Amino acid sequence: MSAATVSRTAAFCDRPSLRQCWHPVARSADLARDPVGVTLLGDPYVVWRDEQGAVVAAPDRCPHRESPLSIGRLVDGHLECPYHGWRFGAGGRCVLVPSASEGVPVPPKAHLAVVRTEERYGLVWLCPGEPIVGIPEIPQDRDPAYRRLNVDVELWTTSSTRMTDNFLDISHFPFVHTGTFGRAQDTRVPKVELGPLDACFYGYSYEVDVNNDGLGATASGQAATVLHRRMTSGFCLPFAVRSTIHYETGLDHILLLLSTPVDDTTSLFTFVVWRNDDFTVPTDEILRFDKAIGAEDKRMLERVPGVLRLDATTLVSVQADKASVEWRRRFMALLAGEEPVVSPAAGA
Ligand code: FES
Ligand SMILES: [Fe+2]
Repeated sequence: MSAATVSRTAAFCDRPSLRQCWHPVARSADLARDPVGVTLLGDPYVVWRDEQGAVVAAPDRCPHRESPLSIGRLVDGHLECPYHGWRFGAGGRCVLVPSASEGVPVPPKAHLAVVRTEERYGLVWLCPGEPIVGIPEIPQDRDPAYRRLNVDVELWTTSSTRMTDNFLDISHFPFVHTGTFGRAQDTRVPKVELGPLDACFYGYSYEVDVNNDGLGATASGQAATVLHRRMTSGFCLPFAVRSTIHYETGLDHILLLLSTPVDDTTSLFTFVVWRNDDFTVPTDEILRFDKAIGAEDKRMLERVPGVLRLDATTLVSVQADKASVEWRRRFMALLAGEEPVVSPAAGA
């Protein structure tokens, strides 16, 4: 399939190559007690932690009579189907059929067809197929000078393509983010120069003045009413966007914005923050500011109907949209099965 063929439709969830990418579907902390049901690219999965503590994911359908397994329970690390009590252990192996007489073996087809899972950055990632791109690399995750902060996974009634386009775009800040940081920003966007930000992310650098009051002052740790920030914004296929904020005090605030397609017009949203601060401001106080920014984007995006047009000609773009236009070009190449241009190596 060529990129030109892909461009004629903006729907994307049925494209096989997206099943060969890693998608964050839950926080690791969400698997503390019960199995979790998630929908990825239109397909339902059950995710749980097995008796050894490893994350297991499989289609959310019992091989016996198709009960959703995510409404079952965990018994000693085994996932128990709520209908007839079959139990599934590590690697999705069926370990118990309660109705079977002693000594009768479990039917070979009773085992679950598990999909690849990985835990990274406090999140559970799924890849239903053979991976062709890796999970985005954030080197600060291994740097003891930085702490990592996670938030809940939310459901947004918008497309992952619209979210990625929005997360790469800074020209909406003075209009959408007036309740948080955007009022002090010049509406004119300086020339966008695209290039590799590192081995994983592709995007651009810019400088911006932002409001610094209320929750923003807590997050920045500074008192001035307007602050100058040096920032970068870049993407890693398919839907990860990293926004780095460097304050003049030396504080770095790194945001990994993640959207996961539930289907073409519904998405999961979560973000991860890394900061090299003195670890004194409580996590909740820092995250409240970024959550308020996310809520502003959600409110805007949920009022824009349908999926994002992917081809370069239907929508009118200006130079401030350069990063999004380049992301769309590469995303279409990925959908078409062409080699991804920027991404970490396949595997986790
Ligand atoms: S449907 Fe799951 S055990 Fe029967
Ligand atoms: Fe935004």
